[in-house]
Amino acid sequence: MTARGSDDEVMQEELKAGGAIPQHIAIIMDGNGRWAKQRALPRVAGHREGVNSVRDIVEACGQVGVGCLTLYAFSTENWKRPQQEVSTLMRLLVKALRDETDKLYKNNVRLTAIGEIDSLPRDVQRELSDSFERTKKNTGLNLNLALSYSGRWEITSAAKKIAGDVAKGKIEIDNITESLLSSYMSTADIPDPDLMIRTSGEFRISNFLLYQLAYTEIYISKVYWPDFRRKHLYEAIRDYQKRERRFGLVSEQVKHLQTL
Ligand code: FPP
Repeated sequence: MTARGSDDEVMQEELKAGGAIPQHIAIIMDGNGRWAKQRALPRVAGHREGVNSVRDIVEACGQVGVGCLTLYAFSTENWKRPQQEVSTLMRLLVKALRDETDKLYKNNVRLTAIGEIDSLPRDVQRELSDSFERTKKNTGLNLNLALSYSGRWEITSAAKKIAGDVAKGKIEIDNITESLLSSYMSTADIPDPDLMIRTSGEFRISNFLLYQLAYTEIYISKVYWPDFRRKHLYEAIRDYQKRERRFGLVSEQVKHLQTL
């Protein structure tokens, strides 16, 4: 075992002993462009290095026992970026899926995606479905990529599907509850995030999981995504473990519920 390996294992054990590990972590991976600019490199260099951060964070999440990791890899708004940057991001995605699926499979990671997958280039769709198929029986971390995704798109799509089902007589208007709405979201099978991390010091949700983030703890890291590695993830989880999640209740009620 390398020195780094053993140090990391110690940190992971301390983290697990320190409190609850968030079961769903969602991340807005921001700052790739600024990371590159700081180094007088093209923006794509930031995205490329960002893939290395993805690899490290996925591996660490699996090891500490996070159940689901949702990464905001490409937003609906990102289609409006210069064409060259969009196609580079798509190429990087295809390459990452090709290079990493074996490792995901061996590490018991199950890959899923949310978003308008049909709008992605054909080769991206093909690589995605190969990776979904290959990893679908894995029982460890669920790595969920948000691709061509936006919260408003998702809520609008759910509203359309519900309206369609009401028109067909499949559901009654009176039966439209919060849990029914949740079941029409692309995250129907995933619990709401416990922790949302945004890198690069920006304090925004930016159309990410708008419905699901209602009671999520938010952690903003100043670090740009290409520099964000497992030690930063551990800091975020340690910070999360210090929070009291009240879900709209008062502190005494939460403490009482914990004794039941
Ligand atoms: C935001 O930084 C980042 C993105 C829009 C793309 C994120 C993509 C990756 C990390 C690579 C592919 C991902 C996977 C899952 C393999 P920005 O470009 O908005 O940075 P800026 O705000 O500094 O300009």
